[in-house]
Amino acid sequence: MEQLPVCLNLKDRRVVVTGSGQQAARRACIAVRAGAHVLVVATERSDALDEAARSPGVQIRIGQLESADLDGALLLFAASGNAADNERACQLAHGRGVLVSSDHNDACDFTMPSIIDRSPLLIAISSAGTSPLLVRLIAERLEATIPATYGRLTRFLGNIRAAIAKRIPDRRQRRHFLETLVDGTVADLVLAGDEPRAQALVEQQAEQFTARRSSTDVGEVYLVGGGPGDPDLLTFRALRLMQRADVVVYDRLIGSPILDLVRPNAERIYVGKKRNSHALPQEEISKLLVRLAREGKRVLRLKGGDPFIFGRGGEEIELLATEGIPFQIVPGITAASGCASFAGIPLTHRDHAQACMFVTGHTKTGRLSADWASLLQPGQTVVIYMGLAYLADLTADFIAHGADPTLPVAIVENGTRPNQKVASGTLQDIAAVATQGGITGPALIIIGSVVSLRDKLAWYNPSPAEVAAATARFAPPDEHPPKHRAAAASE
Ligand SMILES: C[S@@+](CC[C@H](N)C(=O)[O-])C[C@H]1O[C@@H](n2cnc3c(N)ncnc32)[C@H](O)[C@@H]1O
Repeated sequence: MEQLPVCLNLKDRRVVVTGSGQQAARRACIAVRAGAHVLVVATERSDALDEAARSPGVQIRIGQLESADLDGALLLFAASGNAADNERACQLAHGRGVLVSSDHNDACDFTMPSIIDRSPLLIAISSAGTSPLLVRLIAERLEATIPATYGRLTRFLGNIRAAIAKRIPDRRQRRHFLETLVDGTVADLVLAGDEPRAQALVEQQAEQFTARRSSTDVGEVYLVGGGPGDPDLLTFRALRLMQRADVVVYDRLIGSPILDLVRPNAERIYVGKKRNSHALPQEEISKLLVRLAREGKRVLRLKGGDPFIFGRGGEEIELLATEGIPFQIVPGITAASGCASFAGIPLTHRDHAQACMFVTGHTKTGRLSADWASLLQPGQTVVIYMGLAYLADLTADFIAHGADPTLPVAIVENGTRPNQKVASGTLQDIAAVATQGGITGPALIIIGSVVSLRDKLAWYNPSPAEVAAATARFAPPDEHPPKHRAAAASE
């Protein structure tokens, strides 16, 4: 984060603006709207300033900025449009401990975001001065999608807040209740302007809610597939439930870009699994989900990829079903789909493969337990999850069972993430290629002639800066950058 967004209370505080142009006038007006007393210091009068001076609360002084102008000031907007004048204003302000926003970015303590004003609801958008154009485009979109009446809804919720807090003292339960209001008829009525009916409905629903809560207080478990890594690949439903959760129980393959989208105040429990080293054994994870739900919580069980594809999602909900805990399941994009798309390898193709088989390389013996006759069917792509640690043995087994040693193979590491790496070769040389390429996992193995299409279809090329940033952001919570062999073994 380049800057920290905060909302300042400027009521009756002093704000100084320098300059006589449109920018200075705009700054003066917005500070007055937030309740400040504004002094504009300008070397000449202008129509824009005269217009601003009509607001009570704006005072204009013609002349140069002087130290005394800053007495008691909290902020200075240096908006003269002249670099030297702004620089001088900044120096004076800094000497007086006043925070500065300047037309000339270098001297800034803060920048002004673009604002969607649905007072008392405010949405501020900032690019830290990097791209005002993008900020404006985003602001335009939000302006169009957030109705003006949201201000009314915000005030309504503010008005009932104390009464609801008294009635439902438990914070978590209160949040659940308020969410039902915002998602339901109460909000619709307020937005339509019928506050008396909305108020009556709040009373009725609060009564029902407290009656229900005191008898049974069981929460719910959301078993959610977080996809292979790129947060843009989450489903809408996954995102909605991530925003509702009281607690998130998450796996090793969930990187911070996805975790950052979970409700910020949700409790976070890491149960990541490495091969042969489980932060929490599977049975304990299932029991944990039951316990948390029995505490009345909305439990987000967030898993990499799809929970039902090599994710043990079935086992986890079995205990929930037995114990009568309500749950819902949200599919995610499985690693095979994500990696194949981002590597430019269609898993099926009329000229290459009419079938695709997903298998796991993580077996007790370290050897594929699949039936080799079905695995080696012509016109079939084979995708192996969790196979990197056994790559040399796996490919040797394919050849030993009759596969063509020149059959194309790709290894996709960190698929869909900016630090994605793809190593390609053939059954006979891919193990050496992967070692040379420093492939450490998580990685997926794709075997079949479809891999050859990558030469034409590869498209995903993030910038070096994105790659560098992603390496840290996607690192598993329990792992520092590992050595090649050790990491492969930990997959
Ligand atoms: C325990 S399995 C979980 C699979 C997950 N449920 C899914 O549907 O993708 C973990 C394996 O999935 C593969 N995998 C998951 N995410 C990946 C990614 N972003 N890139 C490459 N392989 C990935 C790796 O083979 C990893 O060892």
